[in-house]
Amino acid sequence: AVIHRTDYQPPAFWIDHVELTFDLDPAKTRVLNKMRVRRNAAVPAQPLRLHGEDLNLARVMVNGAGTSFKMEGAQLVLENLPEGDAPVDLEIFTTCAPAKNTQLMGLYVSQGTFFTQCEAEGFRRITYFLDRPDVMASYTVTLRADKAQYPVLLSNGNLVEQGELDDGRHFAKWVDPHKKPCYLFALVAGKLVAREQKIRTRAGTDHLLQVYVRPGDLGKTEHAMNSLMASIAWDEARFGLPLDLERFMIVATSDFNMGAMENKGLNIFNTKYVLASEATATDADFANIESVVGHEYFHNWTGNRVTCRDWFQLSLKEGLTVFRDQEFSQDLAGDASARAVKRIEDVRVLRTVQFPEDAGPMAHPVRPDSYLEINNFYTVTIYEKGAEVVRMMHNLVGRDGFAQGMKLYFERHDGQAVTCDDFAQAIADANPGSELAQRLDAFKHWYSQAGTPRVQAHGHFDAAARTYTLTLRQSCPATPGQQDKPAFVIPVELGLLSAEGAALPLQLQGEPAAAGSSRTVVLSEPEQQWVFTGIDAVPVPSLLRGFSAPVVLECAYSDQDLLTLLAHDPDPFNRWEAGQRLALRTALAALDNPEVVADAAGHIAAPLLPDAFVQAMRSVLRHPQLDAAFKELVLTLPSETYIAEQRDVVDPQRIHAVREAMRAQLAQALHDDWQWAWEAHENTGGYSPDPISTGRRALAGLALAMLCLSAVRTGNPVWPGKAYQRFKSASNMTDRFNALTALVYSGHELAQPALARFHALFKDEPLVIDKWFALQAGAPDRAGHVLPVVRQLMQHPDFSLKNPNRARSVIFSYCNGNPGAFHRADAGGYVFWSDRVIELDAINPQVAARLARALDRWRKLAEPWRTAAREAIARVAARPDLSNDVREVVTRALND
Ligand code: ARG
Ligand code: ZN
Repeated sequence: AVIHRTDYQPPAFWIDHVELTFDLDPAKTRVLNKMRVRRNAAVPAQPLRLHGEDLNLARVMVNGAGTSFKMEGAQLVLENLPEGDAPVDLEIFTTCAPAKNTQLMGLYVSQGTFFTQCEAEGFRRITYFLDRPDVMASYTVTLRADKAQYPVLLSNGNLVEQGELDDGRHFAKWVDPHKKPCYLFALVAGKLVAREQKIRTRAGTDHLLQVYVRPGDLGKTEHAMNSLMASIAWDEARFGLPLDLERFMIVATSDFNMGAMENKGLNIFNTKYVLASEATATDADFANIESVVGHEYFHNWTGNRVTCRDWFQLSLKEGLTVFRDQEFSQDLAGDASARAVKRIEDVRVLRTVQFPEDAGPMAHPVRPDSYLEINNFYTVTIYEKGAEVVRMMHNLVGRDGFAQGMKLYFERHDGQAVTCDDFAQAIADANPGSELAQRLDAFKHWYSQAGTPRVQAHGHFDAAARTYTLTLRQSCPATPGQQDKPAFVIPVELGLLSAEGAALPLQLQGEPAAAGSSRTVVLSEPEQQWVFTGIDAVPVPSLLRGFSAPVVLECAYSDQDLLTLLAHDPDPFNRWEAGQRLALRTALAALDNPEVVADAAGHIAAPLLPDAFVQAMRSVLRHPQLDAAFKELVLTLPSETYIAEQRDVVDPQRIHAVREAMRAQLAQALHDDWQWAWEAHENTGGYSPDPISTGRRALAGLALAMLCLSAVRTGNPVWPGKAYQRFKSASNMTDRFNALTALVYSGHELAQPALARFHALFKDEPLVIDKWFALQAGAPDRAGHVLPVVRQLMQHPDFSLKNPNRARSVIFSYCNGNPGAFHRADAGGYVFWSDRVIELDAINPQVAARLARALDRWRKLAEPWRTAAREAIARVAARPDLSNDVREVVTRALND
């Protein structure tokens, strides 16, 4: 049944304390749950209804005696609990089957080790409970298991006792000093080893940090440990938030639905976000590990100390924590240029994944109003758009003001389960008089209104008055259930450039003299104007600097304006953005031009990019001051998905052909420059994942890809040969994988031997084999070759549908990550997709529902894709036995 936010009711009972005893056995684990419950006096007396799922109930006792109870669906209902306020001791004994748990929610087994995942509603698969985040209890947990098979027994908090039992079994008893909602409960039991680190924080307290992995993986834990130490230091330095535990543990598992989980004191991670060595992990992996370790650690305050009242408030913890991990990575990156690179990467994700979500059938506000399955709402809207909402608040009150707001938030709410309103209120109250405080109610439309606002900008120069008038207008497309929306509060950071690219001083009419060349104006009406004085010639406006709000900005820039911004904007984000706008403009014009036609092989021979653009790209590439990382971003064309989002009707094949033609033209026209870029950047010396060497490797990798691409077109064997050499001799995974990618993407015949060699080299490294699968499933399509390859890969002995990372590496890389290959005119891609969604749903509904999202935007497709896509979705929807997860996604898609 659909759950509505406005139906929230406080719990009828509190659970103050829980004592759990586990007898761990993969086939049948026994769970004894002793709870101390008491009535919530603020709520009319009613039966106690406990959540449960896939449990075998053996016994229920109240205050030490048997009791009557009944089942209502999956709920255990106790109607005859003693009246009054006195606490009641409730004892529930159940069993469950972790080895059969393929959903990976609750208690499950991965490679012979027990793990748990309880967020959002997995605890009810472990025992009967009030499985809701506003019920916070203290936990004592005893784990009992065979000592030889499960030598390590972990749970939240502190280890207070351990010892031997009969029959080769042993036990460990853990006490968590902090109260917590049950979604933060965790246990781990198995054969694991730990990297350990003792630290003393600024405040002078001592702590033990541990990263637990399988025995062979210890050598790949240094970066995760370093990231954890950096996270602890950063949260203390930037927000005054210390580590509040004697012991902080991270455990890695190769079977995990998501990235990682912030269980109190016992974070459980997907191995992908823990394990790294220079030989097996790319620079992107190193960066992801840093940010995910940071993310989970930062939840210790934003999520754990202060948690969510209900799951509609999910962005309270996720948006804020993503904002914090983004800031962490930026602060660690160092200078302004490296910060901007991280910002551009984050905005790219927002615009290529969240904007489509916000325009599609699953569009929902940052604080949703309803859901059928909460797992479907762990989305880029809740996470990334939520982070943008926090970032706007941060920018409206300033860095120090935001820190004050955080301080007030914890003073008010430490130990509580609260709402997004409580957070916004604290930030505003700590900054009286700020733009945020003045417009708080209107600002909060960002929480309640879905859809990506459009901002249209018009400039008018008045030579006689020496003024420049900027008009900004906002609107927001309708989204499911929301037709007309009141205006958003949109902070627009801006500057003005002269035609020569000089930054102009900004003086707003009617304001006291201001000297800066960048400032923020706040658009809070449907339309507003700002008049800048002392302007002598038509300026070029640089708007939405740093992407100061998650909106689509429309501005009638001339090509020359964009070239000026690309060459001179002091704001690196907008410099990059100007290049993207120019490339996008070319792509859209080519899509609309009937004279641009692809041949039978899907190639467009005519040059599409204007000379001025090619020249501008050359200047960026050869620029003496710009960082390599930034150059690589500027020289990468907007993705097919991003181009598709700009269209009302999408022809995925044509978009693919146009973008490939633009890439090929850049490859050929800048051939000598790419050669220079390769030679100047290919040697990065000893490996270090720092921003400078990461940027050099990224640019060298792009150069090599471009050189191989033009070599294949001209039939010149030199660069593919060099790429193969680099592939063989590279001493780090980034260089090796970039060389392999260059060969595979260019379609050169050396790709096949390289792929075979790569597999042989890394056959014992699952995370590297994931890359091997993903590369092939995500490669540019040539005459429809990718789908048969994908089908073949699924027959490979290393493939497994049950392992989420592996399923993602093949199926998602194809369906979500390779539009040119997936959207086949013969509908083969869609048939493949529907088969996999149905197959996966029987194993793991959460993963299946993610895959089900691949056709969200079907309504935009041109024929024949549109009809074929709808049929494929209908085929899934027609299944009688679907999970709530998949049913919600396909129903919304069809009703869109
Ligand atoms: N709270 C976790 C994180 O973002 C994600 C857990 C999501 N789990 C789920 N089953 N939906 O850090
Ligand atoms: Zn999170």
